[in-house]
Amino acid sequence: MKNNDIKKSTLFEDTEVLHSNYIPVIINKEKFIQIVDDINNNNDLNPLKLKIVNLKNIISNHKNDREGIINIDSNGDTISLRKDILISDLNQILESRSINRAKYYLKRLKDGVQKIKTNSVNDINLLRWKEYDEITTDSLWVLDRRDTSGAHLGWYWGNFIPQIPHQMLLRYTKKGDWVLDAFVGSGTTLIECLRLGRNGIGVELNPDVVKKAKELVKSEPNRFNVKYNIIKADSRTVKVDSIIDKYGIKQFQLLIMHPPYHDIIKFSTDKGDLSRADTIGEFIRMFGDVVDNYSPFLEKGRYFALVIGDKYSKGEWIPLGFYCMNEVLLRGYLLKSIIVKNFDVTRGKRNQKELWRYRALVGGFYIFKHEYVMLFKKK
Ligand SMILES: C[S@@+](CC[C@H](N)C(=O)[O-])C[C@H]1O[C@@H](n2cnc3c(N)ncnc32)[C@H](O)[C@@H]1O
Repeated sequence: MKNNDIKKSTLFEDTEVLHSNYIPVIINKEKFIQIVDDINNNNDLNPLKLKIVNLKNIISNHKNDREGIINIDSNGDTISLRKDILISDLNQILESRSINRAKYYLKRLKDGVQKIKTNSVNDINLLRWKEYDEITTDSLWVLDRRDTSGAHLGWYWGNFIPQIPHQMLLRYTKKGDWVLDAFVGSGTTLIECLRLGRNGIGVELNPDVVKKAKELVKSEPNRFNVKYNIIKADSRTVKVDSIIDKYGIKQFQLLIMHPPYHDIIKFSTDKGDLSRADTIGEFIRMFGDVVDNYSPFLEKGRYFALVIGDKYSKGEWIPLGFYCMNEVLLRGYLLKSIIVKNFDVTRGKRNQKELWRYRALVGGFYIFKHEYVMLFKKK
């Protein structure tokens, strides 16, 4: 994945993609299918390709359209496709060496316009999978910029970049699903829920942070009428059923956890705060209690995203991420992916960049530049 490949501007309307970053072409479905069927009636490759060239000319320039394939607006039975991808699909047909191959691609083209095929955990139309290039499938994320649009102010020291919940929601939820973030902090996950039409609950221990997060999330437009709430509670012990009962739901479809990375940032003085755990062992036990508390409420076959980094202590690398991963695996989850995500120098360390480099050279260690997004599936 290249820098900033995770784009923010594409939104999903059911399974329809709004092409804000790309040039769309609005086509009349019925006409298009007629033309594709007509092309498909050719049993020789050359005449078939000639008709594809003609169709390509129409798609490339609407002035060549004498058949009424292209609509100016989206009234009637139309579909909006990404022009670059449609042209590349037509080119693929032109490059076919056999009539069978060409017809195979033609069928794919027709299915992509006529049908919708999604899996059970998201709204991605697999028949038009090429259009979803904002969704990353690589395990290495190198992002050079956080999304600071709208309510994403990035004020909270220790928050995650909005691109993380954005990707998780697109990949692992459908519109209208329920998401629970057990350490919601400044509300980043909920802001993304509002943008993408997912309902969300966030739990946060620190009352001051809850107050500020509530204000922030409220300032984000709620055009999908998303239901959401931020609850001030300890995620180890909060009664989850009493939170979700009032929404008439029994379970949620995505669980997100971004716990403190032990004591790297001390978030509060509350004894229930994971960043106040006296030892690593205690931190892991507290984390395990949170997983136990929420797990019964995650729907079977759905995903749990854990965002965590490691830490140094007394000259030793402490693999917090892997310790936490182990806790989750001990509870019977299936590990689906470990994503390594870069992070830039944190605010605290920015001014001390040189000093850290010197310390690293002296101490024989490497400066942290990454954290993990670990993905588990409930069996
Ligand atoms: C790493 S931050 C999460 C930041 C969040 N992802 C965001 O974007 O703002 C961890 C949060 O967990 C909260 N926390 C710590 N222990 C908790 C507990 N037992 N229950 C609920 N929240 C807790 C902290 O107050 C802190 O806000």
